[in-house]
Amino acid sequence: MDAGLIPANLYECPVVESRQVGAYRQVSFVAPEIAALAQPGQFMMVRLAGKSLDPLLPRPMGVHDVDSDLVKMIIDPVGKGSVALAGAAVGDRLSVLGPLGCGFDLEGAGPAVLVAGGMGAAPLTMLARALAARGREVACILGFKTRSQAMVSELYRDVHVEVVTEDGSAGRCGLACDLLPGLVEKRRGRELPEIFACGPAEMLAEVARMARKHGARAQVSVAAHMACGIGSCQGCAVSRSGGYVKACTDGPVFDAEDLQWR
Ligand code: FES
Repeated sequence: MDAGLIPANLYECPVVESRQVGAYRQVSFVAPEIAALAQPGQFMMVRLAGKSLDPLLPRPMGVHDVDSDLVKMIIDPVGKGSVALAGAAVGDRLSVLGPLGCGFDLEGAGPAVLVAGGMGAAPLTMLARALAARGREVACILGFKTRSQAMVSELYRDVHVEVVTEDGSAGRCGLACDLLPGLVEKRRGRELPEIFACGPAEMLAEVARMARKHGARAQVSVAAHMACGIGSCQGCAVSRSGGYVKACTDGPVFDAEDLQWR
């Protein structure tokens, strides 16, 4: 490929660790440039390098964590692309474009409540640590279908975490949003928490509804089908008042009140 066509933030990164975390796979790779720049809520486009071109398209992967020059991602092996990435072994090389998109706005003050559903818990670990490092009181509500998924909650450290599962096999039985009103109500008469959420569309819509009801600010990270990650394919349109925006370049994090919810 003409060197001029290769994006400046495309890297070939060796995998140095791959381990199972319950139902998910945690893969760590060396990417000092990405580790230095990545902000909570940003993502990468990732595919196996130097192997078969099938699957051809990279997968959007949230930055789960950074540690020195390492970048970590959590993979739910459910489709062809994610199964291939989850099978990456130590020594394999990944083609990684990133960091991409707009992450969470960390400039607020006061308490923060993080709400995640399923794989939405992966990118919020970095956010929880960043907010705590700014001296903010952080509480996390992590919702999963079942215990094997809930094991990813063990990756959260030094913050208050409530686990909820739909089948009651770990933590409380229910949905993540079930606990949100209680946490907000507990602060009645005091400073309202800012809500940060990542998860399925129905959960984000409920978070947006509750935030509006209580007058709290909510930032949500939306999941969208992404083929390019850089604003070219038009495949990640998100409905916002006044028109459509692109999740990959205008988001994936948005103020909940700016989006149109069904
Ligand atoms: S993923 Fe291609 S425009 Fe957003």
